[in-house]
Amino acid sequence: MKFEERKITLKDGRSCILRPTTPEYAEQMIEYMKKTPEESDYLLRYPDEVNFTVEAEKDILGRLYEDPYSIMMMPIVDGKVAGNGSINGIGNKRKICHRCSLAIALYKEYWGLGIGTAMIGYMCELAAEIGWKQVDLEVVAENEQAQALYKKCGFIETGRRHNALRFDDGSCHDEILMYKELS
Ligand SMILES: CC(C)(COP(=O)(O)OP(=O)(O)OC[C@H]1O[C@@H](n2cnc3c(N)ncnc32)[C@H](O)[C@@H]1OP(=O)(O)O)[C@@H](O)C(=O)NCCC(=O)NCCS
Repeated sequence: MKFEERKITLKDGRSCILRPTTPEYAEQMIEYMKKTPEESDYLLRYPDEVNFTVEAEKDILGRLYEDPYSIMMMPIVDGKVAGNGSINGIGNKRKICHRCSLAIALYKEYWGLGIGTAMIGYMCELAAEIGWKQVDLEVVAENEQAQALYKKCGFIETGRRHNALRFDDGSCHDEILMYKELS
């Protein structure tokens, strides 16, 4: 969806722009989808599972940008992409259309600067404007950093999905389920 850029100041004093993720960032998005799972074990994809062409990614980003029910947000620091975040509806059926789902990941060099807090705050504002009543998310049980961020942003733990993820090394990992009500 289209939304206004927002400028924030990071903990190290630099400026960061939170802006919509638009098709001209297709190449950077592919690089981001490959690089961030190399820096964190807690993302769903392995780098070799990213097989989009730039053209296909441009097409996807173009459709999401035009979709008034899809939030894709990119933080830009010193002109460089620092990560990405998204909120999308769970589904169109009437019994579940009050719920949406959040995802976020930043490049490691930008962790701990306050970008995650600002992005979740802004994305939740936009989700409330769209009319969703509740944001859901899942986070790997060992991912304490992300859970601290979500709790700081008002998310509450509601449950646990046993062995939700199975890594290539054979280890299994639970997911924690969290939600936040939107007003
Ligand atoms: C999780 C992630 C998005 C957090 O974003 P961030 O910009 O680093 O978070 P912030 O700087 O806004 O910090 C938010 C809070 O998280 C906590 N936090 C930050 N770094 C932490 C760390 N290393 N360990 C534990 N808690 C930490 C703090 O409570 C912090 O609040 P405070 O600064 O007021 O103390 C980012 O670290 C990331 O992209 N990680 C890899 C991908 C990932 O795990 N994504 C989530 C998948 S569910």
